[in-house]
Amino acid sequence: MTEKQERPKIFVCTKGKKCPKKGGEDVCAAIQAAAAKHDISVKGSKCLDLCKKGPVVVVSPGKRRYGRVKVSDAQAIVDSALHGTELGDLAVTSKKKK
Ligand code: FES
Repeated sequence: MTEKQERPKIFVCTKGKKCPKKGGEDVCAAIQAAAAKHDISVKGSKCLDLCKKGPVVVVSPGKRRYGRVKVSDAQAIVDSALHGTELGDLAVTSKKKK
């Protein structure tokens, strides 16, 4: 039996109330640019319910959640999606904490 490999997906909060004000659109554009040569879906999304940690990014498979993402983190986020690695310093482990 072969395991079906899921196409990596990256969601960036660009439609919530807080992340867009903190640069969510720029982060999304930077991740889209970094992912352009790879088979990765990068989409702006509605609020991901981690507003205090914005800009917020979720990487699947694995639903790894990253907060306070900067444009300069775009390549690392794409690498995380490609290789299934965890970015410890950006990881968000709990919801709605200050
Ligand atoms: S506004 Fe971005 S997670 Fe809520």
